[in-house]
This record gives sequence, C-alpha cells and structure tokens, in this order.
Amino acid sequence: THCILIGAPVDEGQKRAGCLMGPAAYRVAGLARTLSELGHTVEDRGDVAPAAGRGEVCDNPAVHHLPEMIAWTEALGAAAKSAMTAGMPIFLGGDHALSLGTVSGVAAHAAAAQRPLFVLWLDAHSDIHSLMSTRSGNIHGCPVGYLSGRDGFEPMPAFPAPVPGAQICMFGIRSVDPAEHAALSASEIEVNDMRVLDEHGIVAPLRGFLDRVRAADGLLHVSLDVDFLDPSIAPAVGTTVPGGATFREAHLVMEMLHESGLVTSLDLVELNPFLDDRGQTARLMVDLVGSLMGRKVFDRPTRAK
Ligand code: ARG
Ligand code: MN
Ligand code: MN
Ligand code: MN
Repeated sequence: THCILIGAPVDEGQKRAGCLMGPAAYRVAGLARTLSELGHTVEDRGDVAPAAGRGEVCDNPAVHHLPEMIAWTEALGAAAKSAMTAGMPIFLGGDHALSLGTVSGVAAHAAAAQRPLFVLWLDAHSDIHSLMSTRSGNIHGCPVGYLSGRDGFEPMPAFPAPVPGAQICMFGIRSVDPAEHAALSASEIEVNDMRVLDEHGIVAPLRGFLDRVRAADGLLHVSLDVDFLDPSIAPAVGTTVPGGATFREAHLVMEMLHESGLVTSLDLVELNPFLDDRGQTARLMVDLVGSLMGRKVFDRPTRAK
C-alpha cells in the first residue's frame, strides 16, 4: 500500500490545548518506519495549514472557533480528496473536529468514483451533535452529525455527499449526550456500545459490518479516537472515559480490518501528547496502525473473512 501521512494539528475543536502536537508525536513514535518495515511505501505530506478564518458565526453562542474550523474543513477536505487518488491517506490528528474535513474529502472522492462510502467510528463518544445541539460548544463532538447530513450546521459549507446512517458503524461507545441519543435513535447508524462488546465480543459485530462493506463494494474510512481505548493503556486524551477497549480488543479490531483488505483511509484523533506518559499512548497508536497495516505474530491462513 502507498501510505500518505497528512498532519492535521487541529486543536480548536475542544478547549484543552495539546492535540496540535499529535502529528509530531506520531512521527517521533516512528509511524513512517513502522509502515515501511511492513513493506509499504510512505509519503509524508507534512502538516496541512488552513487559511485564516473569515469570522463566520452561528446561532449557538456556546460554539467556539467556528471560523477556524471552517477553514480547517476546507483545507483538510482538499488534502483528503487529492490523497485518495494517490494512495491511502492516514491523517495524524489533531482533535476529532478534523474529521469534518477528512471525511468531506473522502466522501467527495467516493461520490466521484461512484462507490458507497462506509465509516467505522471507534470512539467512547458518538460525536453526533450539530452546531445547534452541542452544549459544550466543542466542535470535536460534531463530526458524525456533519458527515451524516444532520441539519443545524449553517454556516458550514454543505457536506459534499452525506453518508447514509446504514453505512456508519460505531464501536466503543460509552458516553452519549441526550441530544445525541435522540439523533442516533432517529438514524440507522449501528451503535455497538460497550454492552454489545461485553456480551458478544468484538468479532461477530465487526465481521457483520465488514461483510456489508464488501457486499456493497464500498470504500471504508476508519476514524480511531484515542478514547476508544481504556484510559489505563491510553492516558493521553482530554476526554477519558473509563471502561474502554482493551489492548487485546483493539489489536483484534485492527487485525480484522487488515484481513478484510477494505480500509481506504484512516484518522488518528484526539492524541494529546502533553498528557502522555513517556510516549506510551503515541506508541500504542502507532502499534495499532501496525496491526491495521499487516503486522502479526504468526502468519496463519486467513480465516473466513
Ligand atoms: N459529547 C461531548 C461534547 O459534545 C463529548 C465529545 C467528545 N468528543 C471527542 N471527539 N472526544 O462535548
Ligand atoms: Mn471522538
Ligand atoms: Mn471520543
Ligand atoms: Mn467535548
């Protein structure tokens, strides 16, 4: 695979500074070397730089940094769309508001290629607020609302090709605000909260989703939020929620994604290196990308996909 690293040092989607150091931390933790050791080619396109904000405002006074986020969305959308024609983009965040842009660009590419886009959201949070429903005003809580075509995003640029709820699948969910609950219930999004994982494990539900992607000949965008992971193994995130995915569950997800051969783009989001413990979280995220891109202990015949 030709892997295209794109830094997205977005820090404006929430209020705790530090995610802007994420791209540097992934580079220091050896992401490029990990990928090339697995036999992939790696092209690092550096960090995206947005234009200046234009002063846009919305009707919800809690929302902050909207002009900056609109500028990021436009710049990251363009970077994502162009990278999709050249290889597999891996976006180094940056807080989760960056997915407003990355998924915009990927969706525009999918529409042009006439392929359905599927999105796998690995996160403690459902991030399905609109600009009007968010109470924190933190736009990192809004990207799924935007990419699924929810109302209430004026004056954001219209999302190019909204992803139908039936093509979105979430795992790891354990923190959902009331307004998000209503939006999820009204949608066809598949929400695998921690209860599902406790009861059924991660394999069966994930395999079901991947089968649907394959049957539809879809593109698959994976958005991996650090807080998908349990805080005990991944402390470097501003929004820790107890009871997350274990080390073993997370690697299993990544190995299944590798075996599926379906992933066409990837976001790594919410790493806040300022909160890390001697690089532990950055290293774990790089190792997870290694599993997603083919690292395994033993080669065994691929099981029924
Ligand atoms: N739902 C909460 C909010 O809107 C938390 C969102 C956390 N999102 C994230 N990407 N970590 O503020
Ligand atoms: Mn998130
Ligand atoms: Mn989260
Ligand atoms: Mn928040």
